[in-house]
Amino acid sequence: MGTAKRQPWVVGVSGASGTPYAASVIRGLLAAGEAVDLIVSRAARLTILDETGISFRDAHWRADLAAWLGFEAAGASGDTEDTEASGGALGDVRYWPAGDFAAGPSSGSYPAKGMLVVPATTGAVAGIALGLSKDLLQRVASVTLKERRPLVVCVRETPLNGVTLKHLVELDAQGAVVLPASPGFYAGGSTVRELVDFVAGRVLDAVDVPHSLYLRWEGELGAAARRTDANAAVPPEGE
Ligand SMILES: Cc1cc2nc3c(=O)[nH]c(=O)nc-3n(C[C@H](O)[C@H](O)[C@H](O)COP(=O)(O)O)c2cc1C
Repeated sequence: MGTAKRQPWVVGVSGASGTPYAASVIRGLLAAGEAVDLIVSRAARLTILDETGISFRDAHWRADLAAWLGFEAAGASGDTEDTEASGGALGDVRYWPAGDFAAGPSSGSYPAKGMLVVPATTGAVAGIALGLSKDLLQRVASVTLKERRPLVVCVRETPLNGVTLKHLVELDAQGAVVLPASPGFYAGGSTVRELVDFVAGRVLDAVDVPHSLYLRWEGELGAAARRTDANAAVPPEGE
């Protein structure tokens, strides 16, 4: 019979600080052999630019994504058209502009597995909780909830005001997993990358995608300190 149906995870990147969390989640999904449908909100272009120096462009999304994920060695060039050669090592990724309400994932009939909003702004949290659908990211999140598919909302803001706390409770009541971008230190992470990967790993845990992004708790107090000490004993590259 025909080929297997493509069933992607939708990754929605909204304009909160924490774009490295999104990059780590996308890398983790691709490493696990999952297909990814990517939506980047208008505000997220600003945070990506601010935190990585990359201008994320619709017309060159594949090259820009490859650079963002650190795959640029695969031959992606910022000035090329969106071709297989440009960022071709990315894997199975589709990109949908945030203003495209006719995009595949905007319909419940599109065979998405679910959606990960990483990082999630308080605005995205509000829009999803209230069903505003002000852009494609929010529309797909609403579709994900109505189809009873997994939705993970990795909120990034601190401190939180009362209305955001109410919206987060509402999301929980609707079946979403509210997963604050809140790294744990019990895995012994000492670098920024390890702490970022911890949060990304917890996002993937929430949807049962296998990964090795952080070391799991094994019931042994003091293990984190020993791992950190062991890491500190290894001289940084170049020394
Ligand atoms: C550099 C930068 C960092 C931001 N960080 C956050 C943040 O951590 N959390 C948040 O809720 N909003 C943050 N914002 C504000 C959001 O981008 C803004 O509320 C925007 O309207 C959210 O739109 P979106 O949900 O469609 O992405 C930040 C904005 C900028 C420019």
